[in-house]
Amino acid sequence: MMRAMTLHPAIVILTGAGISAESGIDTFRSGANGGPSLWEQHRVEDVATPEAFVRDPDLVLRFYDMRRAAIQTKEPNAAHRALARLEREWPGTVTVVTQNVDDLHERGGSHNVIHMHGEHLNAWCTTCDARPRWTGLLIDRPPCPACGARTLRPDVVWFGEIPYHLDRIQRALADAHLFVSIGTSGAVYPAAGFVRLARELGIATLELNLERSQGSAWFDETRLGPASEVVTQWVDQLLGR
Ligand code: APR
Repeated sequence: MMRAMTLHPAIVILTGAGISAESGIDTFRSGANGGPSLWEQHRVEDVATPEAFVRDPDLVLRFYDMRRAAIQTKEPNAAHRALARLEREWPGTVTVVTQNVDDLHERGGSHNVIHMHGEHLNAWCTTCDARPRWTGLLIDRPPCPACGARTLRPDVVWFGEIPYHLDRIQRALADAHLFVSIGTSGAVYPAAGFVRLARELGIATLELNLERSQGSAWFDETRLGPASEVVTQWVDQLLGR
């Protein structure tokens, strides 16, 4: 049964790599910018698992140092900015739940952002659990600013690790009236399962993506096109422009 609409419905927006593709950041699965995708260039098993970090920490740290440096040269695009405008102007709550580890939502002006897969610009000290802001390199094993141990790793969620803030995300969904998924292939759980949870909760669901995602059939509506266009149009429509 569809949840009754209130005057100021709360909106939960799940974003994935597709929203940052037009900023020049590689997607993981489909090479969005004409080149190979990230997981075609690097094997997940080599760089994005706890086992890989134990086996070859230098390879993993170098990979994330490269990515951390790269995102700092990129700029938010029209889709990031449109979501920030929605948060500012929509009378209800707008929550962005992102699988992205870049900071383009924040730099685009969004404040209510949940990073379920961690953040490139944070390090995590596995000795004292501090999560200092980190823009430089980790390959040289710099000391943790809190405890001095040389045990900093990227604060990103690897395959086989549990995503962050799942309770907060569930609570946001439980209060929401609209769930929107933007620029994600629907290949990775638990994020890929949020649309089904939304349906069980009676929340309207909308997909905005370049192509149909794996879970496309679960959405009430799908609009296809580049995020800079479809997201901007959707936000304009919601705000009555
Ligand atoms: N506009 C909108 N969507 C786009 C664009 C664009 N300009 N370019 C690509 N896309 C879409 C693709 O069609 C694809 O469906 O974005 C999606 C990107 O999918 P993935 O590369 O699989 O990225 P994502 O879904 O975010 O991956 C989820 O997988 O490897 C892990 O931890 C990593 O957070 C990541 C998770």
